[in-house]
Amino acid sequence: MNKKLVLVSGGAGYIGSHTAVELIEAGYQVVIADNLSNADMSGVEGVRAITGVDVPFINVDCCDKEAFARLFDQYDFDSVIHFAAFKAVGESVEDPMKYYRNNLLSFMNIVDLMRQKGRSNIVFSSSATVYGEADILPVTEATPRKPATSAYGNTKQMCEDILRDAVAAYPTLKGIALRYFNPIGAHPSALIGELPRGVPQNLVPYITQTAAGIRECLSVFGDDYPTEDGSCLRDYIDIVDLAKAHVAAISRMVDNKNKERYEIFNVGTGRAVSVFELVKTFERVNNLKLNYKVAPRRAGDVVAVWADTTLANTELGWVAERPLEKTLQAAWAWEKRVRNIK
Ligand code: WQD
Repeated sequence: MNKKLVLVSGGAGYIGSHTAVELIEAGYQVVIADNLSNADMSGVEGVRAITGVDVPFINVDCCDKEAFARLFDQYDFDSVIHFAAFKAVGESVEDPMKYYRNNLLSFMNIVDLMRQKGRSNIVFSSSATVYGEADILPVTEATPRKPATSAYGNTKQMCEDILRDAVAAYPTLKGIALRYFNPIGAHPSALIGELPRGVPQNLVPYITQTAAGIRECLSVFGDDYPTEDGSCLRDYIDIVDLAKAHVAAISRMVDNKNKERYEIFNVGTGRAVSVFELVKTFERVNNLKLNYKVAPRRAGDVVAVWADTTLANTELGWVAERPLEKTLQAAWAWEKRVRNIK
C-alpha cells in the first residue's frame, strides 16, 4: 500500500485543486477523480502547472460504483479526500433528491470501497453549516449541530454520521471530518481559483465579478442584524490555508497520530468578519471602489458563525496563516486573470 498516494475526489474543483497542490508540495502523490459536472479541466491543468507534476486525472462519477472500483484496482492509495459533491444550498431545497442521491451515494461508495479494498484513511469535506444558528459563539467541535435547513446541509450531517458509524463498525477504517467555515481566495499564482457557473451565490465571487464589471452591483443582504454594523458575521478562511488543513489531516492518519479513529476539526480563522468589513477591506487592498447597495436579508442566512480553532491548532498542528488582505488580493488577481483584466 502506498501511504504517500492520495485519491482526491472532486479534485478538479475549487477546494480540491488547491488541496492537490498542497499535498504534492508536502511530498504526497495525488490522483484526481472528477466527473467535471461542475468544473472543467482548467483546475487540473492549473495543479499540473503549479507543481510541475503530471497529476493523473480520471473522469469518473463516484456514484458509478463499478467504474469507481476500477480506480481502486488501478491505484494503491491508502487515503482519500472526498470533495465531490453538489453544493448549491438553494438548488438543494428545490431539488432535494438530486442532492441526496449524489452526495450520499458517492460517499457511501467511497466508504464501501475503502473497506472492501483494504484502504484506511478518509477525509470528508464537511461544513460549518452543520452548526446552524449556534447558541454560543465561537463554535467548538462539541457545539451541538442544529437541524439542517437545506438538503445540502443535511447531506453534510448525514455523511458525517455515515463516516462516524462506518469507522466505529469497521476497524480498518479511520476518518476525519473537516468543518470548513467560509473558504475564499485563490492560489497566489492565480493559476487556480473559484470559477462559479452562472450567477455567484457566495459573497467573494460576487464581489470580484462586480469589480470586473460582470455584475452591476453587489447586494449586501441585510444591514439590520444584531451585529455591530448590522451585517452578518462569518469566518472567512483562505483557500490555501484550508488546503493545508487537509494535508495535516492526512498526515495525522498516515502517521498514526490520530487520538480517535473518527475525529472532527473546525477549519476557520477564529475571527468574525462582517459583510461590510469584507467589502471595505477588498476595496482598500485592491485600490478600487465597489458598486454595492443594501438589500433585504437573504432567507436562511444565520446572523453569525465563527470557529473556535483550538482543536485544529493543537491536534492537527494547523493554524490559518494568511491575512484577509492577502486573501482578497489573491481573489482579485485570479478574477483579473480569468477575465483578462490588466
Ligand atoms: C456570506 C455572507 C451573506 C452574497 C454558504 C453555505 C455554506 C458553504 C459556503 C458551500 C452572508 C452575504 C452573500 C451576496 C451578501 N457552502 N452575502 N451578498 O451563506 O455563509 O455559506 O457558502 O459550499 O454551507 O451556506 O456564504 O458567501 O453565501 O455568504 O451580502 O451577494 O455574505 O448574506 O452574510 P454562507 P456566502
